[in-house]
Amino acid sequence: MTLLAANNLFKRFGSFTALDGVDLDLDRGERLVICGPSGSGKSTLIRCINRLEEPDSGTITIEGLPATDLQSLRRRVGMVFQQFNLFPNLTARENVAIGPRKLLGLSRAEADARAEALLDRVQLAGHADKLPSRLSGGQQQRVAIARALAMEPVLMLFDEPTSALDPEMIREVLDVMVELGEGGMSMIVVTHEMGFARRAADRICFMDQGRIVAMAPPQQFFEAPPHPRLVRFLENILGH
Ligand SMILES: Nc1ncnc2c1ncn2[C@@H]1O[C@H](COP(=O)(O)OP(=O)(O)O)[C@@H](O)[C@H]1O
Ligand SMILES: [Mg+2]
Repeated sequence: MTLLAANNLFKRFGSFTALDGVDLDLDRGERLVICGPSGSGKSTLIRCINRLEEPDSGTITIEGLPATDLQSLRRRVGMVFQQFNLFPNLTARENVAIGPRKLLGLSRAEADARAEALLDRVQLAGHADKLPSRLSGGQQQRVAIARALAMEPVLMLFDEPTSALDPEMIREVLDVMVELGEGGMSMIVVTHEMGFARRAADRICFMDQGRIVAMAPPQQFFEAPPHPRLVRFLENILGH
């Protein structure tokens, strides 16, 4: 069943066309990876989906309904960015609990219990009382994932979640994301981690110059890349 449907999205910044007629469907429980060169419109697409950016034209529906109410949309769509954007003066537990308390009306005890359970789930049991500055980048990003999950979203968006991390921390974040996908979460992940894409994606799409120019399941995507520009892109990032 279709969870997200984006149709014919256009987005221009001045004379520059960042999205040039993008169509994208996501089924419930599906895991889609988006890759493509810098400036190809990946972040713009993700930002249009949760309306951090307003498309110039085109339609987006989630669970069959257009996203007219921004607050309810942002509640249902979790987002994790390259920069973790945690509240620096709040502990890990408070960072995760604040959304459920302020936006969902949970009591402090309920929100704290939810936060503890989620920190457990992202392998951060025992770190709940720490401020972000006391956590590594990989740990902070896992708090950010827990924080997004605390709103019980129907869809999770990730925009290069491991790009700002030291190599040894990338794996621990990707492992949490793999598990999330295996648990049935619907996900759109912008990443150049092709190992993750191969392991976790149901489909991979390749964007170039504001368009989706290729979309295929992992095996076909890597073994028979359906577009010449994708062949070159893979050669570059996989170092062939
Ligand atoms: N707010 C903005 N104002 C002007 N140009 C922008 C803005 N956001 C993105 N762009 C431009 O749109 C293009 C696509 O950006 P983006 O979606 O961030 O690409 P990607 O995430 O694939 O690297 C880039 O060339 C960028 O400079
Ligand atoms: Mg980007």
